[in-house]
Amino acid sequence: METKLRNKRLDETEFLKMRGAVLSLWPTGREVDLDEAVEYQKKLPDSKNWHKVGLKLRNEGRTAIFPRAGTGLLEDQISLSKKLVQSGVPFIPVTTDSYTRQLDFQKVDSLLGEMRKSGRNLLNGYPIINYGVTQTRKIIESVDQGAFNPRLSLKSYPLATEISFAAGMTGIAASSFISWAAYEKDATLEQSMTTNQYVHRLIGYYADRGVIISTDNHGWILTGLQPMTVNLATTIVDAIMVAEQGGKSITSVVHLMGNMAQDLAWMRVTPKLMREYLDKLGYRDVSIPAVFAQHTPLFPMPQGMGGAFAFPNYTAMVAALGKAEAVSVRTIDEALGIPTEESHALSYESTNWLLNVIRGQNFEFKSKQVDEEAAMAEMEIRAIMDKLLEIGDGDVVVGCLKGVEEGIIDSCFSPNRQVKDKVTGIKDGQGAIRYLDCGNLPFPEEVKKFNREKIAEREKAEGRKMDYEAIVQDFWAFSKGQLTGKA
Ligand code: 5AD
Repeated sequence: METKLRNKRLDETEFLKMRGAVLSLWPTGREVDLDEAVEYQKKLPDSKNWHKVGLKLRNEGRTAIFPRAGTGLLEDQISLSKKLVQSGVPFIPVTTDSYTRQLDFQKVDSLLGEMRKSGRNLLNGYPIINYGVTQTRKIIESVDQGAFNPRLSLKSYPLATEISFAAGMTGIAASSFISWAAYEKDATLEQSMTTNQYVHRLIGYYADRGVIISTDNHGWILTGLQPMTVNLATTIVDAIMVAEQGGKSITSVVHLMGNMAQDLAWMRVTPKLMREYLDKLGYRDVSIPAVFAQHTPLFPMPQGMGGAFAFPNYTAMVAALGKAEAVSVRTIDEALGIPTEESHALSYESTNWLLNVIRGQNFEFKSKQVDEEAAMAEMEIRAIMDKLLEIGDGDVVVGCLKGVEEGIIDSCFSPNRQVKDKVTGIKDGQGAIRYLDCGNLPFPEEVKKFNREKIAEREKAEGRKMDYEAIVQDFWAFSKGQLTGKA
């Protein structure tokens, strides 16, 4: 594999040249004036800056919510944002629609016209590029607090982040892995990393001028059951890439899978190792203000009302026990479609109830099981990171590009053609996720043996082999309120 891509800061003149092509994709690109945008950002109150809101929550020992929300018309997005702020949400998402994600701006234009005529909702999110900077600023200005963060696609990243930051948004999921392995069929990791470097460099441009935009680093989103360690290692890769381009604030995202010992262990280990690798590679001035937890989005959502409340409440409870600064929960009608304002409010009324009561107790959750999972996760993440740095000769980008080809970073059931898909996972008797097949992941024998033994215990207890059928049953279990899949 030959590639020129390196984890190396883009030269400013080169970067400014690249912007021309990005901004000319749609007329609203002309509204972006970086110097003016920096001044606009500097005037925002602390309560609209993601990094500062994260730090404040940490100092106060609170766990807040970062939901997902988007609607087609500007006035509805304003109303929705106000509702979220009223519901006690400090991190406000702007989820974009599917046509924006595909850069189909003509289509958005005609649908916006139809929506105004018929009153029907024809877009599943906010078309940020069609609206542009001036209009989108109205959303940020409609509330007196709330740090905004757009939810985008790989294709829309460069232009949409230009518009978002110029409009006053201060957080972004700038991850090379988030879209690529879970949402893209044909895009290569190299394409995704190239696109992300642009966004990271834009963040670095703002940072050089005193404006901190934070990145919520999601890593490789898993599309099947396997321990989170490939995901967590790649959140560290994301952080290193952001740091190299000059970003100064990393929001460490930890995905949960429903086994408390593992979930709490992952929340403990990830920011610690992220800090360690950032320091080791020379990015000591990069801050990790907050840890965000969220349930990994692969599980089918419960459709009954009881389960619909239980699922986000469980996630909120674990996030609070793990002392995360925020948690992303979905609404109770997630299984049905785009949520209404009322369902947003009702969902967060419920999850905030738990967050306040549990996080407020500052409960010290000590457990041998969590310690054991933490030790295992740490070993796995270190093994992956060290191997990536080794084969990349110290460069994580080169390491990952080679690593994907060799299955050194890998996942199961990925829709992306480039992914090797040699790994499989299954639950053990306690519902912890184990590697059934480690594929080519660079794990020491101790890790492989631990996984084998845990699976063998369940096989013995249930008197059956953990095979493909069992994998499928396990996949559905959590949304049915079952710890493990039933035969
Ligand atoms: N409003 C709320 N949530 C949304 N999601 C996607 N679009 C919207 C929207 N307009 C959610 C998905 C999934 C996550 C990636 O974002 O349902 O949970």
